Amino acid sequence: MTKQNPTSVIIFGASGDLAQRKLAPSLFNLFRKRKTPKQLNIIGFGNTPFTDETFRQRVREGMDQFANFKFTDEEWGIFSKNLYYHQGRYTDLADFKKLGERLSEIEGGPANRLFYMAIPPTIFPNIIDLLGLTGQLLEDGGWRRVIVEKPFGTDLASAQALNQQAHKVLQENQIYRIDHYLGKETVQNILFTRFANTIFEPIWNRNYIDHVQITVAEKVGVEHRAGYYDSVGVLRDMFQNHLLQLLTLVAMEPPSSFNATALRNEKVKLLSAIQPMTPAQVAENTVRAQYAGYRNEPEVKPESSTPTYAALRFFINNWRWQGVPFYLRSGKNMAEKQTQIIIRFKEPPLAMFPMPPEKKMAPNMLVLYIQPDEGVHLRFEAKAPDTVSETRSVDMEFHYAEAFGPTVIPESYERLLLDAIQGDASLFTRADEVETAWGLMDPILQTWETLQTPPVVVYAPNSWGPAEADALLTRDGRFWLNE
Ligand code: BG6
Repeated sequence: MTKQNPTSVIIFGASGDLAQRKLAPSLFNLFRKRKTPKQLNIIGFGNTPFTDETFRQRVREGMDQFANFKFTDEEWGIFSKNLYYHQGRYTDLADFKKLGERLSEIEGGPANRLFYMAIPPTIFPNIIDLLGLTGQLLEDGGWRRVIVEKPFGTDLASAQALNQQAHKVLQENQIYRIDHYLGKETVQNILFTRFANTIFEPIWNRNYIDHVQITVAEKVGVEHRAGYYDSVGVLRDMFQNHLLQLLTLVAMEPPSSFNATALRNEKVKLLSAIQPMTPAQVAENTVRAQYAGYRNEPEVKPESSTPTYAALRFFINNWRWQGVPFYLRSGKNMAEKQTQIIIRFKEPPLAMFPMPPEKKMAPNMLVLYIQPDEGVHLRFEAKAPDTVSETRSVDMEFHYAEAFGPTVIPESYERLLLDAIQGDASLFTRADEVETAWGLMDPILQTWETLQTPPVVVYAPNSWGPAEADALLTRDGRFWLNE
């Protein structure tokens, strides 16, 4: 058997929240499940003065607090032996040289390296420059990959600039841009629902589908991230990435195979079939809102017009979807945490069963529950017992917890880290995909921010958003469904 290269995961921003809450527990769990390469080193890099030992303690504390799995001290002992910390500045060439030396010392020969950018996006270009300058991105005997956290840019121009900068020292296939929604089992299951079954795809088009609703509602407000959030708002924070990813998976054409290139080609094709909006279309098809009390949150500017909620109506200009509206909404401080996709089918062509005039037959509906209660429901009409012709809506239900057991859904970072280690970029966003998505957001942001159109409206905390968002649908003769 040939000896495998060791693999090093280098985390920039190792003392931060993401590393402690998500990355370290995910790597540990992968290790426990024996999914990681045999020799895995994890090296934290950051400004904070930790030693290897105090870093291990910090990671352990995070594990006790955030890991959603049980582990033994023995497992921890084996895993933590390969945890290291290297103190350094993100702008210092000498510190990056020292990092390179430290890595070679730990690895003791050719090795694979995965650099994880768990740092604010403004620092990312600096880091890859310094990694490039110190020769650490050269694939001499092992692969080199970089995971980049969102947000990838704040508009099209900045995303393009980031891509250009990254492409100076990296090939596109070495760059793994994270959208943690793609790591969610239920998000991946959208593709399986569509393409591992024969019953849905024939009706998955404008002939049978009336419209699609995508809701990503959060119960929490901006919490401790207001400083960051107030400069971005909901469109940059949630739509450019997560909601558009959900949209592409629901609406894209079947890829020719389940690999990164085929999959991502179809996603880009789908996004390209959406026409960027003119200012008049932005006024007509978008709603932006802020929850009452947002301006009093610590670190939020008192006159802030940053939206914490948005609702958009999109049309996809292709044969499959012509004329079918896609309504997307997301907000903070809403009535409940609920991420779901509703496929609302058309009404039967003929009302054959006599009904009282005040009753209408409900159209069929497929609900993909992304979180928190992961599953799928198919709603259809059944004859109500003891009536001649009345119907009731009933659900055929699938729930992950019931079908597969309560603790089977892993943390999305587990899957994403493993895929990056294994070189599978299917669940990461490609440069052209990120840019095409920004190309759809830019005109909306510009109209909102420069023309102040439509105005920011206020919605009540713990509600389903402003009346204007309801009007977006009612004028089409439709309404939001909270299933
Ligand atoms: C992040 C956003 O990308 O996604 C946050 O920056 C948001 O504002 C979070 O709260 C939601 O993720 P999830 O997995 O809880 O739906």
